[in-house]
Amino acid sequence: MLPPAPKPIPTRNRTGWSSNQLNEVSEMFVDFCASTSLALPVLDIGAAYGVASIPALSAGATVIANDSEMGHLRILKDNTPDEHRKRLVLLGGKFPRHVHLGEESLAAVHASNVLHFLTGPQLANGAASIAHWLCVGGKVFIQASTPWQKPFESFLPEFERRTAAGEEWPGWIDDAHQRFDHPKISQIPAAIHLLDADTLSKTFAAAGLEIERCWLYSRRDLAKGMRLDGRESLGLIAAKRTPLH
Ligand SMILES: C[S@@+](CC[C@H](N)C(=O)[O-])C[C@H]1O[C@@H](n2cnc3c(N)ncnc32)[C@H](O)[C@@H]1O
Repeated sequence: MLPPAPKPIPTRNRTGWSSNQLNEVSEMFVDFCASTSLALPVLDIGAAYGVASIPALSAGATVIANDSEMGHLRILKDNTPDEHRKRLVLLGGKFPRHVHLGEESLAAVHASNVLHFLTGPQLANGAASIAHWLCVGGKVFIQASTPWQKPFESFLPEFERRTAAGEEWPGWIDDAHQRFDHPKISQIPAAIHLLDADTLSKTFAAAGLEIERCWLYSRRDLAKGMRLDGRESLGLIAAKRTPLH
C-alpha cells in the first residue's frame, strides 16, 4: 500500500495551502532543470516553503525564489540543504508588480498554485513579463486552480454563461467569502481567479510564447474534499521559440 500523501501546509497570508509533494507540473519543471543545457537561473513564483524550489536546487539549478510573504522565504532558506544555499536567491514581493528581472535572463519560470490570485490584467502583464525574461529555448511551467473544484461547484453555471458570452476573464470572483460556504474558505483570498485552458493559453500565446501543452487534470496532491470531476487542476507548458522583437 502507498504511504498517505503528506498534508498540505497552510500559508501564513491566507493564500491557500502549500503542498509538500511535487505535483505533476512541478515535477516537469524540476526535470527541465535537471536536463536543460541553458546556463541561466530559473524563477519560482509563489515559492512558499520550497516544495519545488528545493528539488530544482537539488537538480542543479540556480533558483530565484519569489513570494509575496517574506516569512515563507525565510522558512524556504532554512529548509534548503547547506550545499545548495549559494544557488538560492530570495526575492520577496508580489508578482508581477514587484518582480523586475533582465530580458532573456531566465531558463525557466515555475508558477504553481499562485496565478489564480491575480486579476486578468495582472495575469496579462505577468505573462508579458515572463515572455520578456525567458531566453530563447526557455519554458514556463504553470499549475492553477479551475472552476471545476468541489467548493466552487455552485459557480459553474455562471462561469459557463460568462464563457458563452465571450467574457475575457470568465473565472474572476471578487466575493468568494460570501458566495461559498466551504468550512476552510477563509484560508483563501476573497478575490480569486479560477482559470480554464482557453483563458490561460490565450493569455500566454498573446505574450508571444508557444503553447506546448495546456490541459485539465486532477493533481495528485489535491485534497479529497476539492475533487469534483477530474478537471480540478490546469497545467500549461509554453516555450519561447524566438526573440520577442
Ligand atoms: C497556495 S501557495 C502555493 C505554494 C507552492 N507553489 C505550491 O505549489 O504548493 C501560494 C503561494 O503564493 C504566494 N503568493 C500569492 N500571491 C502572490 C503574488 N502575487 N506574487 C508572489 N507570490 C504570491 C503566497 O504567499 C503563497 O506562498
